[in-house]
Order: sequence, then structure tokens, then C-alpha cells
Amino acid sequence: MNILVIGSGGREHALAWKAAQDHAVSEVFVCPGNAGTALENKLSNISINISDFEAIKDFCIEKKVVLVIVGPEQPLVDGLVDYLQNSNIQTFGPSSAAAQLEGSKTFSKDFFVKYGIPTANYATFNNFESAKDHLEKIPYPTVVKADGLAAGKGVIICQTQKEALQALISIFKDNAFGVAGASVVIEEFLIGEEASFIAVVSKDKIIPLATSQDHKAVGDGDVGLNTGGMGAYSPAPIVDKRLHKKIIDEVMQPTMQGLINEGSPYLGFLYAGLMINDGELKVLEFNCRFGDPETQPILLRLKSSLVELCKAAIDDELDNHKIEWTKQHACGVVIASAGYPENYTKNNEVSIQATDIDGTKLFHAGTKLDQDKIYTSGGRVFCATALGDDLKEAQQKAYNLVESVDFEGAFFRKDIGNKGFK
Ligand code: AMP
Ligand code: GLY
Repeated sequence: MNILVIGSGGREHALAWKAAQDHAVSEVFVCPGNAGTALENKLSNISINISDFEAIKDFCIEKKVVLVIVGPEQPLVDGLVDYLQNSNIQTFGPSSAAAQLEGSKTFSKDFFVKYGIPTANYATFNNFESAKDHLEKIPYPTVVKADGLAAGKGVIICQTQKEALQALISIFKDNAFGVAGASVVIEEFLIGEEASFIAVVSKDKIIPLATSQDHKAVGDGDVGLNTGGMGAYSPAPIVDKRLHKKIIDEVMQPTMQGLINEGSPYLGFLYAGLMINDGELKVLEFNCRFGDPETQPILLRLKSSLVELCKAAIDDELDNHKIEWTKQHACGVVIASAGYPENYTKNNEVSIQATDIDGTKLFHAGTKLDQDKIYTSGGRVFCATALGDDLKEAQQKAYNLVESVDFEGAFFRKDIGNKGFK
């Protein structure tokens, strides 16, 4: 059978690589993919624009694609899953309506309150003047969030009222996020440690995936600007048995039930971004997709079939489905381009000495292939991922793999996984 993965990042390389391991799978197409997916056994890239739903549908029919897995949020929010399902093409991912959990912060915050899901106190505004007035009434730091999708840049932590005012000016007056900034959420600043909880969900059924923890800030020790994620490891000891149950009971179940009540039952990966403080949790956000880079270490640990898991969810058979994990730990370190997460360099030639040996896997993200040479094409370029018998070994092997990759301006955090030793 043939599979199609939509997207071009490290997450999509990992999804496609994992799907290809299934013996029943003949070919995995990746749209548009990267240099890593171009070079991988059983994988091939297709150059269709991911906003051209009709061309994607025609391709699926022509190539007899039996499963489409959608990686990134934008095509989900734009309704790619609805479109393909209406054409009877089996697609794993939420409908556009359910993807509003990520696509609109005002929608998700109001949803949390309606269904009793713990979250930071907030207020929403659709104009500059009323948002500005609100700044007089709140303590600092505070958090200003653009409502819509903003490629991970729409959340601004403001230490002072002056900074918050600046954030509102950039959103409402300078139009920094376009339509995504038509309204804002101003939210209480939470302290604690972040964790990602990612599950496969189908209506009211859930299979939680292995736990993981991301490293969002660009610099060692969590300093500097927020990024899409600079590295992740799995399992994450912060999500212990008690917390795991609490997240299912207090966050995932009410969310799944709430979406059913709203008439938009969920199908797909569902990712809760959580802040944990003294064993208590609050939801920072939902993502309607797998995390990047969490996917890379998590899928390296998944022993059973990803394709069977997605199909079981689509067929509403998660209750009878079992998945299997290796007991080994995994760690993934992102190698990024100079300047990321702000303006970064591109088109630097990459040299790779060693890859994919001894439980390691170099997942590509912002790379492209040109006449057999690999060049950088994005902010996050690779995720060097490795398995080990414990976190220490996984971390060491991931950092050894990092050393085998070189391009001008390459940088990475030196402390990915350290949180897991605490
Ligand atoms: P979000 O897209 O809402 O998850 O926000 C991106 C990142 O901003 C989160 O992963 C946190 O690191 C940070 N953040 C978001 N909301 C808050 C908050 N209320 N308090 C503290 N940090 C936050
Ligand atoms: N790693 C965070 C995200 O995927 O949004």
C-alpha cells in the first residue's frame, strides 16, 4: 500500500521513515518533503503545493494512496482533512473545526473555561484601545498572544507594562501577524516546568504516546527567544504516573468530550502543552498535530506500526489496539541555522560524516537536495536523534551524531535532556 505524508519538517521525515518500516507499505510519498525524505529508502518527494487540495486529491487517486498523514497545522486548520475525507481518501488528522483548538487562541481559551479544563486566567480583545486599557489592571510579567497561527512567534512574554504595550502596537498597529493578530489573548504568566503530552485520539478514545519534554528557548538553560523547539527527549520523568492520570482525567477526556459536544469530534494526534508547578497542571495550549521535535525521539521508541495505529484511529478501533515501546530512552538535538529563530542564513552546503548507525537517526528538517548535494533551507535543519539504555547514553549518542554534521553557522543547545536528570 502507498502512504502520503504532508509536510517538510523533521516531524514529517520521522513520520514517513516510520511509516516506511511497515512491511505492508510499498511507497511513502512526502509532499513536499526535504533532502532527508528524498534520500530515504521507500520514500519519494512530490512537488505539489500543500494548499492545492485538488492536486493532492488527484495524486492520491492516481497513486492509490490508502492513508494520508497530515503533519503541520496550517493545512489542518485550512481543512485538508475535510476535503480529502469528502473524496473518500482515508486521512489521519482533525477536521478544520476541531483544529481550531490550535488555530484560534480565543477559541481554545473559551473552550477550556466552558469545559472546566485548567488554564491561566485571561481576557480577549479585538481592538487596541480596550486591550491597552486592560494593561493598567494586571500584574507583570504577563503574556500577550496573537489569536491565530503565527508559526510559533505569536506569543510574547512581557516583563513590564511598557513591553506589553509594545506587543499590542506590533500586533494591532504594525500588523506583525496579519489576520492572525485580529484579536489577542492577554494571559496570566505561569511559572513551572513545561511538558508535552501527546496522544492519538479518535472521538472519545485515546492512546497516549510515550511521554516527552521539549526545550523551547533558543539558548542553554532556557534563555533567549522561544523557538519551535531545540530538542526533546523521551520518556520524560516529570510526567509521572499520578500526573499522567491527572492529564488524561482533567485535560484530555474533557477536551475530547467537549469537542464531541461541539459537533467536531477529534481524529488525529492531539498535543497538550502543559505548565506543571508543584504537581498541579495548567494547559498552555493545544496543538492539533504531533510535536516537532518531540515526534523524532518518540517515533524512534515506537516498536509497533504507525500505519496500523493511524488506521485503527480512523476506523474507530482504538479500544482494541495495542502499541509497543522500547524501554530504551531517546534524545533528539536540533541543529539550527545561524540567526534562528529570527532571520537566519540559508543555502549553506552540508557535510554529513556518519548517520543512522547503532540506534541513531539523523532526521532532516530545513534541507534541500540539489544535484546530489545537501543545502540548508530552513531555521531548524536537522534533529540528531539516538536511543540509549538510559537517558545519559541516548544523550551522548545524539551529541556524537551532532558532531558528524557540519555547515556554516550551525548551532545547537548543549543541554538537551539535562532536565530529565533532575
Ligand atoms: P503557546 O504557543 O501558547 O504554547 O506558547 C508558546 C510558549 O510560550 C510556551 O511553550 C511557553 O514557553 C510560553 N508561554 C505561553 N503561555 C504562557 C504563560 N501563560 N505563562 C508562561 N509562559 C507561557
Ligand atoms: N515542539 C513544539 C511544537 O511542536 O509546537
